[in-house]
Amino acid sequence: MLETRDLTIRFGGHVAVDHVSAAFRPGTLTAIVGPNGAGKTTYFNLISGQLRASAGSVQLNGTDITNEPVSQRTHRGLGRAFQLTQLFPNLTVLENVRLAVQSRRRHGLDLWSVWLDHRGTLERARELVQRVALADRADAAASSLPHGDQRKLEVAMLIALEPSVYMFDEPTAGMSVDDVPVILDLIRGLKAEADKTVLLVEHKMDVVRELADRIVVLHNGKLVADGEPEAVIASPIVQQAYLGLAPETSLPAQDGAPSPQPSPAGRERGPAA
Ligand SMILES: Nc1ncnc2c1ncn2[C@@H]1O[C@H](COP(=O)(O)OP(=O)(O)O)[C@@H](O)[C@H]1O
Ligand SMILES: [Mg+2]
Repeated sequence: MLETRDLTIRFGGHVAVDHVSAAFRPGTLTAIVGPNGAGKTTYFNLISGQLRASAGSVQLNGTDITNEPVSQRTHRGLGRAFQLTQLFPNLTVLENVRLAVQSRRRHGLDLWSVWLDHRGTLERARELVQRVALADRADAAASSLPHGDQRKLEVAMLIALEPSVYMFDEPTAGMSVDDVPVILDLIRGLKAEADKTVLLVEHKMDVVRELADRIVVLHNGKLVADGEPEAVIASPIVQQAYLGLAPETSLPAQDGAPSPQPSPAGRERGPAA
C-alpha cells in the first residue's frame, strides 16, 4: 500500500502540497483531480522522488521512502511515466522499450540464458509496442515521433517496468482523438489487475467517472475531498472547481453559499489545449 502522511512541500512562501494524507490500495484506481495549479503534479513528484518533501512522509508497503532517490523508489515498484529526457532519442521506439524491459530482468551469466533472455526481452518489447499501437513506428527514432506517439511510447516503457504503483499525469494530454482510446484501454487493463495501484491525474470528468474507483480532490495544495466518485463529483466543491472557479480563488466552505465566478476562457489548462 502507498501512503502519504501530512505530505508537504513549500516553494519559498508558497505551500504547493499542504499536509496531504491519503492511502492508495492495490486493485484501486484513484483519480486525482483539481484545478490547474492545485498541486497534483507536485504531489506526484513528491511520491516518485523528483521532489523532496518539506514535511510529512511517503510510505510504501510499510517502509518510509520519503528520503529515497527516484531510482530506489522505481526499484521498489513505483512507476512514474518516463519523461522525454529519459528516452534515448536516437534509438528506435522498439529499442527504447527493449531497454525498459531489460532493466526489469535478471539473467544468469551463461550465454544460453543471455540468449533466451535477449529473445524474451525482444518479444515482450514487441508486444508492448503493439499494445500502444506503435507497431508501424517500431523502427522510427524516438525523437522523430509526434507528441501523441511519444506519450504512447512513455506508457509502453512504464508498463515494461512492471511497477506495482502506476502514476499517470494527464496521460492523454495533447493526444489526437484516435490515440486517446489506446491509452485509456491500457489504463483500463491495468485497473483490472488486482495487484496494481493506479493513480491518475485527469481533467476529463467523463474519463474520471468511468475509470475511477475513488476520487481525491486537491485544491491550493490541500486535499479537500476524497471518496466514491459519484459522491465526490456531486459535491459542491467539485461542482465549483469544474464550473470554472479560478484556481487562485479560495473555494468557499462546502456548506457555504458561493457565487462562482466564471474564469476567463483558456484560464484552465484543458488537456488538449
Ligand atoms: N519547482 C517549483 N518551484 C516553484 N513553484 C512550483 C514548482 N513546482 C510547482 N510549483 C507551484 O506549485 C503549484 C502547484 O503546481 P502543480 O503541482 O504543477 O499543479 P497541477 O499539476 O495541479 O496543475 C503551482 O502554484 C506551481 O506554480
Ligand atoms: Mg499538473
